[in-house]
Amino acid sequence: MCGIIGITGDKEGMVSRLMAGLTKMEYRGYDSAGVCISHPEGLDVKRSEGVLDNLKETVKDMKDGTCGIAHTRWATHGPPTEENAHPHCDPQFRVAVVHNGIIENEVQLRQILIEANNNDCFKSETDTELVAHVLAQELDAECGDVVPDDEQLLAAWRRSLDRFDGSFSLAAVVKGRSDVILVARSFSPLILAHNEAGFLASDVSCLVGMVKEVCFIEDGDWGLLHKDRMELFDSEGNPVSRKSTKLQWNEEDAELGGWPTFMLKEINEQPAVVRACLQGRLSREALRGVKIPYKPDLVRIIACGTAFHAGMMARHYIEELSGIPCIVDHAHEFRYGTPAGPKALVLGVSQSGETADTLAGLMTAQERGYPTLSIVNVETSTIARQSDAILGIRAGPEIGVASTKAFTGQVLGGLLVALRLGRLTNKVHTEELAVISNAARRFPNAMERLLASTQLEQGLKRARRLFHDKNHAFFLGRNSSYPIALEGALKLKEISYIHAEGYAGGELKHGPLALIEDGTPVVVISSEGIIQQKLFGNAREVSARGARVIMIAVEGDEEAAAHADVVITVPKTHPLLQPIMHNVVCQLLSYHVAMDRDCNVDRPRNLAKSVTVE
Ligand code: AGP
Repeated sequence: MCGIIGITGDKEGMVSRLMAGLTKMEYRGYDSAGVCISHPEGLDVKRSEGVLDNLKETVKDMKDGTCGIAHTRWATHGPPTEENAHPHCDPQFRVAVVHNGIIENEVQLRQILIEANNNDCFKSETDTELVAHVLAQELDAECGDVVPDDEQLLAAWRRSLDRFDGSFSLAAVVKGRSDVILVARSFSPLILAHNEAGFLASDVSCLVGMVKEVCFIEDGDWGLLHKDRMELFDSEGNPVSRKSTKLQWNEEDAELGGWPTFMLKEINEQPAVVRACLQGRLSREALRGVKIPYKPDLVRIIACGTAFHAGMMARHYIEELSGIPCIVDHAHEFRYGTPAGPKALVLGVSQSGETADTLAGLMTAQERGYPTLSIVNVETSTIARQSDAILGIRAGPEIGVASTKAFTGQVLGGLLVALRLGRLTNKVHTEELAVISNAARRFPNAMERLLASTQLEQGLKRARRLFHDKNHAFFLGRNSSYPIALEGALKLKEISYIHAEGYAGGELKHGPLALIEDGTPVVVISSEGIIQQKLFGNAREVSARGARVIMIAVEGDEEAAAHADVVITVPKTHPLLQPIMHNVVCQLLSYHVAMDRDCNVDRPRNLAKSVTVE
């Protein structure tokens, strides 16, 4: 999704500071970028297609200033070209705008302006350019070509915003006012902050290291950012003040720290995430801290992507430990479904806490009167603030677009919710809780042993070769390892661009088996007992048709080797935690296959870290 940063202060040096902010948002995914410096005599805009290095070249000779806005674009309207890159200006270069989100009534407004000006004065295919035109038109109506004072700026800005429908966060600068930035938020996140200057951003990570506290302005807020204060109003035009929140993370957290990629760093941070996520949370008393208003008769879980797979694990835990029926929906589908039963609990799962579909699903649930609890990583995010209660997974900033450590945190968050529900239904007794708690305490060490094992390294070396020049692959699981099969397939898809399908093993005969051909790589996520035997059967079925089987099995499993070309074993742990351990192997397998294909594992093509548009 698009990234926005703006700074207004007394000191020059804005070009390098804005570029530094854009660099910190690169992980979100983008395809073009631009900067505008607001000088007393006018606006200077530089934009480039492609990576930030192109823009760095373009802004090399840019005149510096004390106020500016900048943007990384993830194309929604119009291809990723220089003329579609932000900032966008009106024809007279009176206004420059950067934007994240979508102006839904763009076509109608564009038509009205073309007719009013009796010519098509638009240079780009973007909805953002429209904002610049409208604001310039409203400024002309408010004060002609005189430099507007604050009151005139606010009047013109408010009338402009009233004309837009949709979800957007906006920042704009106006010629002659190189001391102030116009801001507005409707659904897409926007953060303001002050240090020795005034700052704004669409993503808290780009302010890390620049400020210590941030202010998440609310939906419908708009106003002016000055170097030392913010002047905010709500959607009714009433002056509002929003409280500041201490930043959750520091700069080192969001840096590579010597790792070759963020993804590999974050895979290896998982033992620490397990410890942080479960620290002091597994006792009977601590579980009461998982805020659930009543004993629900149904739990509805909503999420997208990897978070959805974590939600599937949560469902397994909740039904296993509490006996409460649970339905997992993609958030974007939940919104159109029929309301749940009278005493449902809606559980949102989201790393970023900014996924538009998940946020919209939670709001739909609240409109239907259901209590909402969200498992999030960013505890200052929009979803966190929208939900009735949250459970933070404490995974630290996850920079790699492909979610790894956050998945583990989300799954453990689901386990904590399940244990809490199990206590509410009296199905989880003290002894069982003690067993799980002891296993959880040993779990990070076992994961560290796995990550350091030569057996894993050797197994991955053999397994990754099976993907050379392959464009299709399968991941098979059953019961609690089925979500891991789906997650493993998504990881491979999104970073290596190999078409990978995750399937429940029992589904193979109902169609997918037709796709197995000589050399097709099939990853089997083992389980235990009768389910394990069924998965061995699946392995035989695909091998008989030429597939190459990579089995992820538990240490000591003597049988696995008879059914696989490559066996990678993981430490045995509590059955509830075992799928998380298997998933670490899937993450590393996908990582190495993608590296063999020279893919950018931290910033895969076409993808963004946080999908803040529907
Ligand atoms: C996971 O690797 C993907 N990047 C994506 O599926 C992600 O999990 C999904 O967009 C949900 O994001 P969230 O957890 O921030 O809501």
